[in-house]
Amino acid sequence: MRWERFDDFDALSERAARLLLEHLATKPDSVLALPTGRTPIGLYARVVSACNRETHCFAEATTFNLDEYVGIDSSHPGSYCTYMKRHLLDFVDLKPGNAHIPNGSINDAEPLLEECARYEQLIAASGGLDLAFLGLGRNGHIGFNEPGTPFDSRTRVVELAASTRQANAADFPDGSVPLHAITMGIGTILAARHIVLLASGASKTDAVARLRSGAVGEAFPASALWLHPDVRVLTDVPLEA
Ligand code: GLP
Repeated sequence: MRWERFDDFDALSERAARLLLEHLATKPDSVLALPTGRTPIGLYARVVSACNRETHCFAEATTFNLDEYVGIDSSHPGSYCTYMKRHLLDFVDLKPGNAHIPNGSINDAEPLLEECARYEQLIAASGGLDLAFLGLGRNGHIGFNEPGTPFDSRTRVVELAASTRQANAADFPDGSVPLHAITMGIGTILAARHIVLLASGASKTDAVARLRSGAVGEAFPASALWLHPDVRVLTDVPLEA
């Protein structure tokens, strides 16, 4: 695990954007896993300004979002589909058919299971994830893999922790934070060839310290990243010596 510490969010975002753009320059047909949340907003803003529709950065790329809420329409203002359009997809030359986000608008159990299997198969059929960008939940979640998630888990429906729903409540001003989500599993994420974890802000200090301790266990999902051979952690929280 390679640790890179930055003085602030802007510097972290700049580095993350450079890593993504360099990866695309080296392998234009990259298959990327992309996160949502507040942390990657600076990354996406820089990628959008560096890479408009004329520069063809994403023309051959494929993206898979890590997760999506269940039980809301993709057009809901709080959905990750809406988020991705607002921060990236409406501004770059990614082919619409190559930008994948789990379909969480399904309500019935059986079709939801099928959607998870379809998503997992689609990742495999695309050649597997080349580079996965991840955010870090305050409780150590990656994607929506909450504490207790088996490290070999694959794309599936999960129940969101109360603390996660609280952390994401601002996206649902009427208080209707979904109870469930579809998320890539930890096993799906660990199968990526390269991983970049972004952790920004004082609210992540404890989670970063816990990750940095090196203790690996299912009680802290991000600790699974210690089992992967190529992980960079980009953070702006103070690191102990
Ligand atoms: C959310 C998302 C994660 C994200 C994390 C951190 O719940 N499902 O993919 O990485 O929590 O979010 P933020 O960057 O807003 O702190």
